[in-house]
Amino acid sequence: MAHTYISDFKDHVGQTITAKGWVYNARFGKANIFVEMRDGSGYTQCVFSADDLDEATFEAAKKLTRESSFAITGKVVQDERQVGGYEIHAEQLEVYDYAVDYPIKVNETEHGVRHLADRRHLWLRSKRQWAILRIRNEIIMAIHDFFQGQGFVQMDAPIFTGNACEGTTDLFETDFFGETAYISQSGQLYGEAMAMAQGKIYTFGPTFRAERSDTPRHLAEFWMIEPEMAFFDNEMNMDMIEKFARHVVSRCLENRQTELQILGRDIEKLESVKQVFPRVSYDDAIDILTGKKEVNGKNAITVQEEDLAAAKSGIEEKKKDIADREAAIKAGMKKGARKFNEAKIIALRSEIAELEEACRNIPKWIASAKNFVHGEDFGNSDETVLTRVFSAPVMVYNWPAKVKAFYMKEVDGDPNYVKGVDLLAPDGYGEIVGGSERETSLEVLVRKIKEHDLPMEAFEWYLDLRRFGSVPHAGFGLGLERMVRWVCGIHHLRETIPFPRRYGRLLP
Ligand code: 4AD
Ligand code: MG
Repeated sequence: MAHTYISDFKDHVGQTITAKGWVYNARFGKANIFVEMRDGSGYTQCVFSADDLDEATFEAAKKLTRESSFAITGKVVQDERQVGGYEIHAEQLEVYDYAVDYPIKVNETEHGVRHLADRRHLWLRSKRQWAILRIRNEIIMAIHDFFQGQGFVQMDAPIFTGNACEGTTDLFETDFFGETAYISQSGQLYGEAMAMAQGKIYTFGPTFRAERSDTPRHLAEFWMIEPEMAFFDNEMNMDMIEKFARHVVSRCLENRQTELQILGRDIEKLESVKQVFPRVSYDDAIDILTGKKEVNGKNAITVQEEDLAAAKSGIEEKKKDIADREAAIKAGMKKGARKFNEAKIIALRSEIAELEEACRNIPKWIASAKNFVHGEDFGNSDETVLTRVFSAPVMVYNWPAKVKAFYMKEVDGDPNYVKGVDLLAPDGYGEIVGGSERETSLEVLVRKIKEHDLPMEAFEWYLDLRRFGSVPHAGFGLGLERMVRWVCGIHHLRETIPFPRRYGRLLP
């Protein structure tokens, strides 16, 4: 018999259907067993009642452990109080497999990260991971819809490449039938060739960087979306980045409310994409970062000092709250109230830990911002400090040539600067997009390839794009996982992709 997905229960209220899935959680009473079932499409409550079932079926239900797989036949009942808004009253049960000692608890935060990462193949089943990866899927669909709706053609760049794109330090090298090859850092150079054929294209593929550091925002394998547009300058590029980011985030706000709620995402913060994205030059950004220049009356350094003071007083308040609750528990209270307060204390402790981390970090961030050397690239904390004074994502343009790639177009009359642009997400999420207008002059490109110490032979094909009908063009790259991280409001990229590949992690 065909089964019904939990996401379709709304169309089956009052009907007897069969659902198939796994035990997410279970509570066992004498007369009733409540099983929270997940089937991939959603979550629902299954009620097994001793009064309604024959003994064998009720006994079978009694043995349901976490992640056991089963089919249930029963009536769909609307119940606002239940997860998903429905429950199913069991009439029949068929067990596929009783799972023994499933190694991940419902509350996954009780495990260390390593325990979870080692079991990523199972961890994917947890509610939080389910929500994150459904948002990832929404983002992917929104990206395709956006570009397809604007007449872009999706084209694929090769993964094996004979040349670097973004600098040689983090290239993965491999053997290609006896020749040295690299696995792609970026599809951009091929994207430029394809844009000269199709006008507006985007690539959507895996990219690889040998980042030998364990940071929350670097993966060794990540997915990049790289649009490239003929006859676009960097202004038009920035218009496109802004419209694109707004479209993708807005789609998630519209279609993924349940998932965002599971993640506890502060929706109001994401709504900032609906505002105009401020555009600041690199030089202005440095003045803002170092506190020389204010934004809407806000000084970046002062704001950090205020955040630090707020964190300190927050810690004191929460400590007092914990002490009060502990005293009240000691004085005696009913079991339910005690449980509630104990859970609250655990939550308060983790909030304190976060504030303590802020207290350790902010002084370092302030020092780094104040001592920022003009001409350097932004560090992680510099992006956090800079974006904190804005209420929307920020675009920083016109970068020092020496921190950016060889292909970026020089600013007219000032070869020390290039027409690059980074999109910085607020609240510490940092760089999401990097892009630029591309150099069109054959002479300048040849000089830049030499200056960057890149092998000219490998770029001959690329230089042909400037020999035959060179036109102004621009494009950008979105790191998919960085976008997922920001939309979901999570700390680490390891949770934004089904099977992360990063320094020190090849299994599972
Ligand atoms: O700024 P990047 O290096 O730019 C490029 O690769 C250009 N070729 C893009 C273009 O103009 N077509 O990388 C683009 C984005 C970054 O903004 C970031 O979101 C993401 O890719 N990214 C990473 N994501 C995860 N792990 C890493 N190691 C990443 N490195 C870059
Ligand atoms: Mg970049």
